[in-house]
Amino acid sequence: MTEDIATILVDENAIQQRVAELGRQISEDYQDRDLILVAIINGALLFTADLIRHITVPVKLDCIRVSSYQGGITPASEPRIIDPIRIDIEGENVLLIDDILDTGKTLRKVVKQLEAHKPLSIATCVLLDKQTNRHVSEPCDYVGFNIADHFVVGYGLDFAERYRHLPYIGVLKPELQNPPEWV
Ligand code: IMP
Ligand code: MG
Repeated sequence: MTEDIATILVDENAIQQRVAELGRQISEDYQDRDLILVAIINGALLFTADLIRHITVPVKLDCIRVSSYQGGITPASEPRIIDPIRIDIEGENVLLIDDILDTGKTLRKVVKQLEAHKPLSIATCVLLDKQTNRHVSEPCDYVGFNIADHFVVGYGLDFAERYRHLPYIGVLKPELQNPPEWV
């Protein structure tokens, strides 16, 4: 555990077990159907990389990059898509993957954008759900863990691009947190 982490909220074993379960569930639900995974990067990178290896139906993978910041300094009121998908999703089943669902604005924005491409279906999957902060009612189809309202890092989640490599989900020490920068 690095010295910047106050507590481990979800350890590596628990993550790996749950990701395998989600993969089995998704494979069952999409039996006999093709699926396109769309990962919101960078946050969903590690989660998606592990999850895709537990999915047994034919999948394609694409990524979408979303920024919650305007020019990297001031927090934007709305998330912005800065790198759209490349794969044609018209008439396809899409599963959108993010690391964490907080206010719901990011998923809402991306779902709306993907809907414009006329997919057959869109479902959503997040590793973590912080239900307490929800501003936008955004139901999620697959949730790894419900967590309390902490600022967490690790397993893809960052603070100022750091800590993504940690194999667990940890709470960053309060003195290292700077919530106004990302809320
Ligand atoms: P939302 O748009 O408020 O639902 O926030 C979702 C995005 O905010 C995620 O894709 C994360 O990148 C980021 N985020 C929200 N909470 C945390 C956190 O606790 N740690 C790191 N990133 C977070
Ligand atoms: Mg992020």
